[in-house]
Amino acid sequence: MNWTRFKTHFFHHDGLGLSLDISRMPFPDDFFTTAEPMMQEAFAAMAKLEAGAIANPDEKRMVGHYWLRAPQLAPNAALAGEITTTLAAIKDFTTKVHQGVIAGPKGKFKNLLVIGIGGSALGPQLVNHALGNPRKDKLAVAFFDNTDPDGIDYVLAGLRGQLAKTLVLVISKSGGTAETRNGMLEAMAAFKAAGLEPAKHFVAVTGVGSKLDQVAVQEGWLARFAMWDWVGGRTSELSAVGLLPAALQGIDIQAMLDGAAAMDEVTRYPVTAKNPAALLALMWHFATDGRGAKDMVVLPYKDRLLLFSRYLQQLVMESIGKEFDLNGHVVNQGLAVYGNKGSTDQHAYVQQLREGVNNFFVTFIEVLKDRDARTSLEVEPGITSGDYLQGFFLGTRDALSEKNRHSLTITLPDVSPRTLGMLIALYERVTGLYATLVNINAYHQPGVEAGKKAAGAVITLKQQLVAALKASPGVAYTAEKLAATAGAPDKAEIAFKILEHLAANKSSGVRKRAKSVAVDSTYRYND
Ligand code: PA5
Repeated sequence: MNWTRFKTHFFHHDGLGLSLDISRMPFPDDFFTTAEPMMQEAFAAMAKLEAGAIANPDEKRMVGHYWLRAPQLAPNAALAGEITTTLAAIKDFTTKVHQGVIAGPKGKFKNLLVIGIGGSALGPQLVNHALGNPRKDKLAVAFFDNTDPDGIDYVLAGLRGQLAKTLVLVISKSGGTAETRNGMLEAMAAFKAAGLEPAKHFVAVTGVGSKLDQVAVQEGWLARFAMWDWVGGRTSELSAVGLLPAALQGIDIQAMLDGAAAMDEVTRYPVTAKNPAALLALMWHFATDGRGAKDMVVLPYKDRLLLFSRYLQQLVMESIGKEFDLNGHVVNQGLAVYGNKGSTDQHAYVQQLREGVNNFFVTFIEVLKDRDARTSLEVEPGITSGDYLQGFFLGTRDALSEKNRHSLTITLPDVSPRTLGMLIALYERVTGLYATLVNINAYHQPGVEAGKKAAGAVITLKQQLVAALKASPGVAYTAEKLAATAGAPDKAEIAFKILEHLAANKSSGVRKRAKSVAVDSTYRYND
């Protein structure tokens, strides 16, 4: 709100066309001088990572997403070769699909079903939404990103009668993720029910030799594209994970890669004041005390960037939200991220941002170009819808500043393949730099693995419970008794939840007799 402070702290890069305004963060005058030593450490750690150091010490692997857009920087020729070969294969496959050289039984593919989750879905979904154009897209894209049967049926209903012209990408770096495996099996069943051979439609993006890769080889799928252990799930958008679906949709993936490479060049520069990623990482540190004390609200004033906060939520929270630091001390680090888009959110939670608990800072994203069309309707004399969008953005920003609510603003010229590649690369680097500032490993996800294991234990218990019920058909059990009968007396609560689920789904064969005290209800198996 102060022109002198704005002029001092306004960063603009001509080549990128990107601006960053940090003037509304109330850091003291000596902040950058004080922070410089730790920023230099972060630059040094990043340089080592980019040179191929084992930057993920737990999993003992390199972290190489920056090489995806600059293969010449990969630590050896073999890796560089794999990146360029895969990119060439993506482009070649895409051209053949678009030309109809690779086609379905009824001609050219028109639809693309992408099956993946987490890092294997959020980036593709962001790009699909940000850069798609229903009138021009070469393939219309749909996603399975969960193991929710109803969600799957919803997507399949949208593809009804069109499966013959649907190409399917199954994306999983590990090739063993249950949600993705289930989505794949559900999609295969739908293709078979429509009299189609899945192998003639399916393509895998996965690590060589993974379970998914083995299925693709055994069944002779249309194609397989490699994922590497040195690319993390949440930083895989610019690998085959994100590039293949984007290219098939008709998006200019080379422009995305070029945008990311240009951003990398700027953000590799170890001078804080000239490096937008360093400035952002330091602002995160300032805003949150380097311990997640405040949440980050991401508010793009652009519908196309609606999914950016969701994408960033995974990138930041899965990378920064860690129990231990690199020295093994319990730190419970994190940085909560949420948001949707403005001005829509002004009619939702922005009320609390202005007047409620002051536990956040906002990252506004401003996009200068309103629309592709040359002209814009005047909704009032001399005023367009885009003028209103800007008015709401600037007004909300001021309204927050007036109440001592802090914000950053990133300004982009437009939403295009190049600027989206830039934005992805910018935040990948901010996250990496910030991880060094707070001394944590950004590149593993033990919490995600813990959830996967716990789910596996529930599935095993379900099988034990059903086996026990089936062993004595017609006999009614309470959850507690059945858990004990199944050899899991300490799992009565989970047994109750499983039995309630089974009884709600007729196909299970499990019937419930409700009792006045819900947890005393009984369940039996009727064959
Ligand atoms: O960022 C990550 O590593 C995770 O969110 C993964 O992307 C997610 O668990 C999906 O894993 P995969 O691609 O192996 O199926």
